[in-house]
Amino acid sequence: MSSEAELEVLGWRDGHIVALDQTALPHEIRMLHLTTVAALVDAIGRLAIRGAPVLGAAGALGVALAARLAERDGWDAARLDAAVKQLAEARPTAVNLRRETEAVAAVIPQGAAAVEAAALATMAATVTASHRMSERGARYLREVCGPAPLRVETHCNTGSLACLGWGSALGVIRALNNDQALAHVLVDETRPLLQGARLTCWELDQLAIEHYLIADAAGPFLIKEGLVDAVVVGADRVAANGDVANKIGTYSLALAARQAGIPFVVVVPESTIDPATPDGRRITVERRAGDEVTHVLGVPVAPDGTRALNYAFDVTPAALVTAVVTEDRVTNPAPRPRTRSHF
Ligand code: MRU
Repeated sequence: MSSEAELEVLGWRDGHIVALDQTALPHEIRMLHLTTVAALVDAIGRLAIRGAPVLGAAGALGVALAARLAERDGWDAARLDAAVKQLAEARPTAVNLRRETEAVAAVIPQGAAAVEAAALATMAATVTASHRMSERGARYLREVCGPAPLRVETHCNTGSLACLGWGSALGVIRALNNDQALAHVLVDETRPLLQGARLTCWELDQLAIEHYLIADAAGPFLIKEGLVDAVVVGADRVAANGDVANKIGTYSLALAARQAGIPFVVVVPESTIDPATPDGRRITVERRAGDEVTHVLGVPVAPDGTRALNYAFDVTPAALVTAVVTEDRVTNPAPRPRTRSHF
């Protein structure tokens, strides 16, 4: 089964938003029907809707929803502005959310129908960008790594669930697989919310792409042992200087990749690159509730009262990034590494 063909990750139906509840995967396919801005903000906050490009598309649809409700119920401008602000600020790290929300909000003076059209255009552009970056990234990797089928490690979830279309990093993996240029994927489980185990393994399974789930802490060691040819990840924000914010655990992979001399490649739509953020120090790293760390899928794994630090993202310096691939270009912030691990 193709998840893309059979499941709607995010959509607009009869004036409301439909979304696949990603907290229920992989065990249950549960669709959300979101008819208020508050319900959408809640779904974003608890990661039922997640992944930077999908957050951007959700923000765009949220503005369409707000504009429609405003027209129907006669909201004043202040109430509409407040709804847009809530959407833009529902999560802080993925720049796509604020960017697409504000871009579509700029159309509000033209009326709800125009806002809806702008939101749907954002969705379509998100899908197109996904396919283009997937193909470009696969071409780039074959160029730097050579023709042998690649063993690729990835982190978090960057497939259709996060990006629509094919995904970003996972889209590249899919394109490599289609070209018979992929050996297999090593999927980091991605503690604490297990996007790798729950979502990436589910997507790879749907696509019949060979993969192994690994504990996050195994990633750097397996790279050192020569079991990985390239690390490919997405990002929530790329600063103007090329520093990259992505799911916590990404930075250690970048360090290991540099040490081993394999490529560390970041795949993002242009909308994830933020010229207004000069460098990684200016990126707001989301900190989430400690119980996501003290509990696994709701089950306590630490003594009662344990305090946790739950940084949801980390920032990898540009100097560790081999290339940033987008739908339009490949930028190379760092010198190219050797083509294969030398361990
Ligand atoms: O907290 P999440 O699940 O929204 O985090 C998602 C990620 O970190 C992804 O790697 C990132 O958004 C890139 S998706 C193309």
